[in-house]
Amino acid sequence: MTTDRDALKREAAMAAVAMVQDGMVVGLGTGSTAAFAIDGLIARVRDGLRIVGIPTSERSAQQARAGGLKLTDFSQHQKVDLTIDGADEIARGSLDLVKGLGGALLREKIVAAASQRLVIIADEPKLVPGLGGTVPVPVEVVTFGWETTAKRLARLGANPVLRQAADGQPFRSDGGNLILDCHFGVIADPAQLERDISGVIGVVETGLFIGMAATALVATATGILRLDR
Ligand code: A5P
Repeated sequence: MTTDRDALKREAAMAAVAMVQDGMVVGLGTGSTAAFAIDGLIARVRDGLRIVGIPTSERSAQQARAGGLKLTDFSQHQKVDLTIDGADEIARGSLDLVKGLGGALLREKIVAAASQRLVIIADEPKLVPGLGGTVPVPVEVVTFGWETTAKRLARLGANPVLRQAADGQPFRSDGGNLILDCHFGVIADPAQLERDISGVIGVVETGLFIGMAATALVATATGILRLDR
């Protein structure tokens, strides 16, 4: 079923796909919004665009491959020209992000960090005045001792919840790790919190993306809002 939100997500995705140029190495995000962008890239490649993609998840790799997109990895290309990815929250002023409700935060952050330009695509409800008010911060942790890691995260003010998969088993990231969804409420200092979470032993990566997004394309009822950092 296509919803109004899907239509907005597609609109934002298409605006980002229009920024892709011949010869680029393109980071392929993960999630329902990024999936529209991958579809858009597949269509442009069928029309003659020549690009290679670096996927941020097995799911996105599969979609891209099925559509005939050429994929590469960091053994072939160390630099990504442009990455198009979704987000769970975008802070209006700073373009800092919460990402990872789709479970791909680690690969997403690795690809984002290697990107010349990270373009975030979203529909309007994701644009917020401050991070943490509408979603938890996903934190990827190693399996061993995750209970003690959760306790140390709780000391930072969170209420960590072990993410479950649809089958009731603990959710596993593409890297085989667990995810603790950490409810902080509205975060006063996301950059400091990102550093604090990263310092907790057992943490692999946090879903706070600070200072990484260059541009956000946010689809609203009246058109695309472009925000640049
Ligand atoms: C995937 O791990 C996430 O970071 C997604 O980018 C984020 O959850 C946005 O997903 P949707 O586009 O499905 O809302």
